Amino acid sequence: MTNSETKATLSFSDGSPALEMPIYKGSIGPDVIDIRKLYGSTGMFTYDPGFMSTAACNSSITYIDGDKGELLYRGYPIEQLAVNGGDFLETCFLLLNGELPTADQKKDFVATVTNHTMVHEQMQFFFRGFRRDAHPMSVLVGTVGALASFYHDSLDINDPHHREVSAIRLIAKMPTLVAMAYKYSIGQPFVYPRNDLSYSANFMHMMFSTPCEPYKTNEVLVRALDRILILHADHEQNASTSTVRLAGSSGANPFACIAAGIACLWGPAHGGANEAALSMLEEIGSVDNISHFIEQVKDKNSGVKLMGFGHRVYKNYDPRAKLMRETCYEVLQELGLQDDPLFKLAMALEKIALEDEYFVSRKLYPNVDFYSGIVQRALGIPTALFTGIFALARTVGWIAQWKEMISDPEQKIGRPRQLFVGSPKRDVPAIDKR
Ligand code: SDX
Repeated sequence: MTNSETKATLSFSDGSPALEMPIYKGSIGPDVIDIRKLYGSTGMFTYDPGFMSTAACNSSITYIDGDKGELLYRGYPIEQLAVNGGDFLETCFLLLNGELPTADQKKDFVATVTNHTMVHEQMQFFFRGFRRDAHPMSVLVGTVGALASFYHDSLDINDPHHREVSAIRLIAKMPTLVAMAYKYSIGQPFVYPRNDLSYSANFMHMMFSTPCEPYKTNEVLVRALDRILILHADHEQNASTSTVRLAGSSGANPFACIAAGIACLWGPAHGGANEAALSMLEEIGSVDNISHFIEQVKDKNSGVKLMGFGHRVYKNYDPRAKLMRETCYEVLQELGLQDDPLFKLAMALEKIALEDEYFVSRKLYPNVDFYSGIVQRALGIPTALFTGIFALARTVGWIAQWKEMISDPEQKIGRPRQLFVGSPKRDVPAIDKR
């Protein structure tokens, strides 16, 4: 971060003294105006609901250019990482440490993660408290938060070693907990992790194997899942990452912070959109119904949105959506489902929307969630678990951002202010006078 030559000057039409504010430059992307002195100098706050024009921190992890449709993890384009940049654990190492691992570093990292995939044997009893049809995200919020009760040896956030151990434990145990949530929902026994399998193969094994017969992973499907995890790993200061940072700014332990991130991701405007997008496609049913559906979307009173479309930052095609569509095609081909009606419906809907003025004028393009439901359904993942897979993948991004925040010397507890529009001070009347 460097000081720009240019300063920002805030002047007031009522003749109040102008305020000069420094402008900082990052390595790429928009500059920022440092408004930290604003309240002290003017007694006024900025007003920015939804933080449309607010940089809450400085970060070197993920960069998004919404106009170009560009996504970089530590400077590397997502297209290269997802297609020929190695597997999800390489991306995890990159996001956590800033550089891609050497072969030896990767070997050590994989071994460390692999040897932390089991959860405490007591964890299984938490699941029994849930209904079998509980939404998996409610189970994950509960069980991830509960991890803190087993790891009193790694809760001191000011100890770098504790931060490192917690990061590994969370990345390693999320697949186990997500698979346990699935097994519990279908009444099958939990499957223990296997150290002889890769991260994604192990997840597929814990999800779909049973004690009754050997389970053989399909390498094409494992690779597809691994790519889905890479595509969802991090995404700058999105709502759930900002939630993790805000929770972490109070000094809360990492398990509690990640549980908060999972809760935020659950929302249909955020990570819940993949589940909502698939339900939307099933509701549309056929290509013939697309035009009627699009009319409903354009009617503001309908409250209907084109789920999997639009983005706060991308005003161009989400690069992850392109890669997700390719992965979708590969998986459907491998499974002999290339004529999958939902995939064809999704592509027809995308084509129609991208040619429609309503979407073009609002720069609404497919986002990461538009195709992810179709490919996850083809992999055998139930719709209700789609957002759980998103949380599994995003855990490394949340943890990397949390670690960066904790070690940032500028870090302090996050505490936004408000524009108060309620009642001024008044006296309480006796009840017979109300
Ligand atoms: C994720 O932030 C991240 O990085 C998130 C994420 C990540 O990796 O962490 O990328 C993951 O959350 C992707 C987004 C998944 N959500 C959805 O697909 C849900 C559908 N999308 C919308 O809810 C919406 O596009 C948002 C929430 C994603 C973005 O909303 P914004 O930036 O607040 O935009 P907006 O609501 O101000 O919309 C601008 C206009 C409005 O119309 P006008 O008032 O100008 O007439 O576009 C319209 C909106 O009504 N609009 C849509 C729409 N999205 C926006 N209209 C129909 N369908 C949509 N999907």
